[in-house]
Amino acid sequence: MSMQVFFAPLEGITDRDYRKLHRAYYPGIDRYYIPFISPTQDRILTPREARMVDNSFCPDVVQIPQIMSKNAGDSLWSIHLLREMGYSEINLNFGCPSGTVTGKGKGAGMLRDVDALDRYLDEIFNGLESGERISVKSRIGFAAPEEYDDILKVYRRYPFCAVILHARTKTELYRGDIHKEALAQTLQDAPWPVCPNGNIFTKKDAEAMQNAFPAIGAVMMGRGLIADPAALAREEDETARRVRLTQFTNDLFDAHLARLDVRNAVAYMKDIWFYQMHRFYDETGKYAKRLRKATDVTEFRAAYRAVLEDLPFTEVETIS
Ligand SMILES: Cc1cc2nc3c(=O)[nH]c(=O)nc-3n(C[C@H](O)[C@H](O)[C@H](O)COP(=O)(O)O)c2cc1C
Repeated sequence: MSMQVFFAPLEGITDRDYRKLHRAYYPGIDRYYIPFISPTQDRILTPREARMVDNSFCPDVVQIPQIMSKNAGDSLWSIHLLREMGYSEINLNFGCPSGTVTGKGKGAGMLRDVDALDRYLDEIFNGLESGERISVKSRIGFAAPEEYDDILKVYRRYPFCAVILHARTKTELYRGDIHKEALAQTLQDAPWPVCPNGNIFTKKDAEAMQNAFPAIGAVMMGRGLIADPAALAREEDETARRVRLTQFTNDLFDAHLARLDVRNAVAYMKDIWFYQMHRFYDETGKYAKRLRKATDVTEFRAAYRAVLEDLPFTEVETIS
């Protein structure tokens, strides 16, 4: 593939440990976007946020922090801080569909009032100080795709370094097809690089996207890479893939056990498994059930080992 691949930010999943291990086991991703931090008027990073944006573990990987806020002053504070930490690109989240987030007018909630969105961006771009580059990750509207014309008009006024488009509305959450026509509209005479996101689960999907829209220089993939972290890696034979996946997943569990209590570490692994199970053919659902029921370290490890030893791989078709 000639185009680049960006790893989507997945809050609660692609934390520092995940990114570090994915990078080590499956090199080849061009950029990792970091799940959001939410700057507030307190102007401090919580310990969790500080850990999230710490990139000292692998300075050679391009990582891009993301902020979610509706307040330009708070946003600029964090943009300057992230710049001092060495980040040159900072991404703005206009996509999070969670009710608690949008209820406060943040994430996809920013798309409800295009004038406010315009004012926010105007303040951001006027407040940049030392060469920060700003990208955006956006949905196409709050309730209806028709809202996108006005949103796009606003975006076209600003010199983003990239526009990542998850071409769904807030209401559509993560379901159904993306609105390809909105992507085509965005690409038309785009003043910035456009990166599509949403339902690109496999290498085949990424290639199909590139064939459909040759102007695209990069795609962003999220859930497909959690389901199959090797989705874009060098081809290996099946045994090598299984060994690598086992080691990667075991290391991921160990890293979380080292920093969380058992209950939370197991819960994290179950979130990973929720996506990984799309990669295995579990005819009766017996293996998935055993994993879902696991509550301690030994049982989770045994249930996971059984999956890797017994179940055939299958192509990831779709994820829901
Ligand atoms: C569990 C979960 C957490 C997410 N966290 C973030 C986030 O922190 N920032 C963000 O911009 N998008 C977030 N997203 C959205 C993804 O980055 C991506 O846009 C979405 O999953 C569609 O891409 P995909 O079909 O390749 O997964 C999240 C999605 C999921 C499922």
